[in-house]
Amino acid sequence: MSEIRVVVNPCAAARAEPYGSARAAVLNAEGFAAARREISAWPGYAPTPLRVLPGLAARLGLERLWYKDERTRFGLKSFKALGGAYAVRCVLERNRGVAASALTVTCATDGNHGRSVAWGAQLFGCRCVIFIHEAVSEGRRAAIARYGAKVVRVPGNYDDAVRHAAAEAARNGWFVVSDTSYEGYRDVPLDVMHGYGVMADEAAEQLGGAAPSHVLVQAGVGALGAALCASFWLRWGAQRPRCVLVEPTRADCYYRSIAAGRPVAVHGELATVMAGLACGEVSELAWRILEHGAGAVVALDDEWALEAVRALANPAPGDSPVVAGETGAAGLAALLALAPRADLRRQLGLGADSRVLLIGSEGDTDPQIYQRIVGRSAEEVLAE
Ligand SMILES: Cc1ncc(COP(=O)(O)O)c(C=O)c1O
Repeated sequence: MSEIRVVVNPCAAARAEPYGSARAAVLNAEGFAAARREISAWPGYAPTPLRVLPGLAARLGLERLWYKDERTRFGLKSFKALGGAYAVRCVLERNRGVAASALTVTCATDGNHGRSVAWGAQLFGCRCVIFIHEAVSEGRRAAIARYGAKVVRVPGNYDDAVRHAAAEAARNGWFVVSDTSYEGYRDVPLDVMHGYGVMADEAAEQLGGAAPSHVLVQAGVGALGAALCASFWLRWGAQRPRCVLVEPTRADCYYRSIAAGRPVAVHGELATVMAGLACGEVSELAWRILEHGAGAVVALDDEWALEAVRALANPAPGDSPVVAGETGAAGLAALLALAPRADLRRQLGLGADSRVLLIGSEGDTDPQIYQRIVGRSAEEVLAE
């Protein structure tokens, strides 16, 4: 029996609570606007589609279901294209007196963030070294190397790779472009999160300005969740959607942190097919938004993610096929796991009048893994 757990945030802000200056010191409207101005001017920029899934909504007993499909984001197949590359641009901007070719950017990644940093480095002409951990697939390694970065595999898990990148950067005078923040390191992760805000803006505009009742967003270190939560709070105030974080049970640092009311780290292998979510420690700055901004956290086993990838590839009547990687499908995985659990749905306020936004944060970022799960390639799925 696959496991699913829900914790409703005992410290969630009241609906009427304003966004406020403490949160604005982390993520703010000016930061979001600056990122949007820059990113929307890059070659190849186009908003990603917001898919409407009436067939799945009916099957799941919801009023509406939308899926923000990040597969086409700048050809990188994930929303991460927005954050890492924008942060590289900001590093270069802060070092305007130095030739880009003399600068090296570096980071740890479980795939998608490193791909974005490597792409940004190539786009803006600086050097790039990316650290991956033991469990990162060969396909994801190759996808980073394709952008000209040096890719180094190190022992341990994602959090070990983060520490490794920081140590190598200090030794070599490189710039760490991390998507997670820690003590004394905040400018770059803030740029990353402000970059992600582009997706939130697009989704809000594609929804015609009407807020959904829920947004289900996958949480690794929480940068994506914090960016969406902050952006929607700033835009919609008391009408903002309830922000539900989704995590693998084996890397459930937000589940534990929200339950405890303070950051709690998870150690060990963090083994999950939801590769982008294999993070054991919350980002300090993301936590400052999510500690009161997250309404709840759902932790679930990998089987649901695989089922969700297949459900999107084999659509319900009335829906078109959607290509999602295991991490990208996490929000739908939560809905599938919750479907037979009226008790948990009630806790989350999910019912026949719910209008739910899912964040399809990645497409087939590893095509071989995708084919193994679905039995067909992304191209075959989309051709049907
Ligand atoms: C596809 C995908 N979705 C979601 C996430 C989670 O983002 P965050 O670590 O900012 O919570 C990641 C992180 O790598 C990812 O690659």
